[in-house]
Amino acid sequence: MKHHAMVFGAASLLLACNGGTDSESAAADAAAQQRPAAIDAASNAAQVRETVAALGGNRDRETSNATTLTPPASRARDPGPRTTTGDAGGPLDGLDAKQMHAFNVGKADFEEAEEPDEGLGPTFNLDSCGGCHSQPAIGGTSPKVNPQMAMANSANKLPLFITADGPAREARFVRNPDGSPDGGVHGLFTVSGRVGAEGCNILQPDFAAELRRNNVVFRIPTPVFGAGLIESIPDAEILKNQARQAAAKQALGIGGRPNVLLTGNSISGQPNRNGNDGTIGRFGHKAQNKSLLIFSGEAYNVEMGITNLAFPTERDESEGCDLAASPNSEADFSASGEHAAIDGLSSIEKFTLFMRLLAPPKPSNQVAGATPASIDNGSKLFADTGCALCHTPTLNTYAKTSLPAMSGKAVNLYSDLLLHNMGAGLADGIQQGQAGGREWRTAPLWGLGQRLFFLHDGRADNLRSAIAAHSSSGSEANAVTRRFFALPDSQQQDMLNFLRSL
Ligand code: HEC
Ligand code: HEC
Repeated sequence: MKHHAMVFGAASLLLACNGGTDSESAAADAAAQQRPAAIDAASNAAQVRETVAALGGNRDRETSNATTLTPPASRARDPGPRTTTGDAGGPLDGLDAKQMHAFNVGKADFEEAEEPDEGLGPTFNLDSCGGCHSQPAIGGTSPKVNPQMAMANSANKLPLFITADGPAREARFVRNPDGSPDGGVHGLFTVSGRVGAEGCNILQPDFAAELRRNNVVFRIPTPVFGAGLIESIPDAEILKNQARQAAAKQALGIGGRPNVLLTGNSISGQPNRNGNDGTIGRFGHKAQNKSLLIFSGEAYNVEMGITNLAFPTERDESEGCDLAASPNSEADFSASGEHAAIDGLSSIEKFTLFMRLLAPPKPSNQVAGATPASIDNGSKLFADTGCALCHTPTLNTYAKTSLPAMSGKAVNLYSDLLLHNMGAGLADGIQQGQAGGREWRTAPLWGLGQRLFFLHDGRADNLRSAIAAHSSSGSEANAVTRRFFALPDSQQQDMLNFLRSL
């Protein structure tokens, strides 16, 4: 647990070395160090949480606007999303007929919109998985037109942060009304006012009031293309990669640690909401979930309010609002026919199979205004600048997996799957597993060429802003970000072209 202090030390040193311009953030850094140092001294997750609470929890976030870098003037431009989408959203190569059937059945269920009599709600963020995960094809990220706009009705207003041209969002509250840490997702909508839910009158949370309290943080959907390959990367591979290029990482102030999901991670006197097996989490913006099956069960209940075999109890048990039997989604014991074994699986297993069997994104040179030579040069600069020290181009799967399509594959995900301290500017003040309020999983960049919204909360809609946001007081990416913006415009352009080829 010592490495945090070291990382902060290195970052401050770099700030100091860069002279003048950053003295303000260097001071902010020094202040910010107190908090992580105290957190490092805490020896387990429960103590960490208490320490965070005692130090004022989310103080970091309040300084965020002051500390984030504005992209310096440059002629380099984000070429924008690639428009050819024909190659995204298909299955992995090498599936047999039964596996193809599982992919298709899972995809149909993933796309299906649900209603209250099927278990939707009482609270939810959208009525289908596919609505949030749809750019540039089913399995992707937030589309251009926010599908959540259609969820407003007589009893549900659109929260201020849901707009037609903004990303699909989920909202977390940082604290409870009594000041203790919350961190959970609060459903944007209720089934009140919907056909089939006439007896339900629960109200939406008062988002306007929570926004005024500066208590709301957002997450946008992460894509699930190639997710089965990510799931098949051994923990040992992640740790081996963490140890690579140690000197280069140290010189640039880059640390990183896995989100190890520990057993006995409970606070006394509170329900133990999660217990795991000590292995490395890899899904979600804070690498908070271990597997696609766990994520499916959680998303079905949290995003859609549909209880299932992994998450069997309702989040809201108000009278008249739970309209389907519990758990809402179950195995179909009466399934018959050639594919009964697959057709009879419960929805979360079908979602899991679909996501496991989804092909990874395919890179393409069809980037507006870019030559193959520029993209190629951008790829080299991506490594030379230090981006690849976090955004690891390739990790490998287990040599032997139960589905041969996943065995011994090179996964070109552009992530180390580790957590990094990304500074006050990106902090959300929320703890998940071992991940603290400033820590984020290195976003996998495969498929980036077709994404519309960037960073965990979708605050950036172009690559230059997304890169600039890597820099704020305390961020492990400060030195690398500075190197990027110090490159000649033409080289910055090569890198942006490369990023849009992914
Ligand atoms: C309201 C929008 C929304 C809906 C509906 C939704 N998701 Fe998501 N999804 C998200 C967000 C936001 C995240 C990032 C969550 C986080 O990091 O806390 C995410 C992340 C994921 C991930 C993690 C991928 C990775 O590599 O990080 C998986 C898997 C996933 N969703 C599956 C599903 C499934 C299955 C469903 C349907 C049961 C679903 N989602 C429905 C918004 C949504
Ligand atoms: C210290 C590790 C680190 C370094 C160095 C780093 N990144 Fe990142 N990058 C991250 C993390 C962590 C995120 C996710 C942050 C968030 O979601 O708030 C991210 C997100 C991104 C995103 C947004 C992706 C998305 O879909 O939201 C882009 C683009 C990106 N990085 C490009 C770069 C480039 C280009 C460089 C080099 C100039 C770079 N990164 C250097 C850790 C790093």
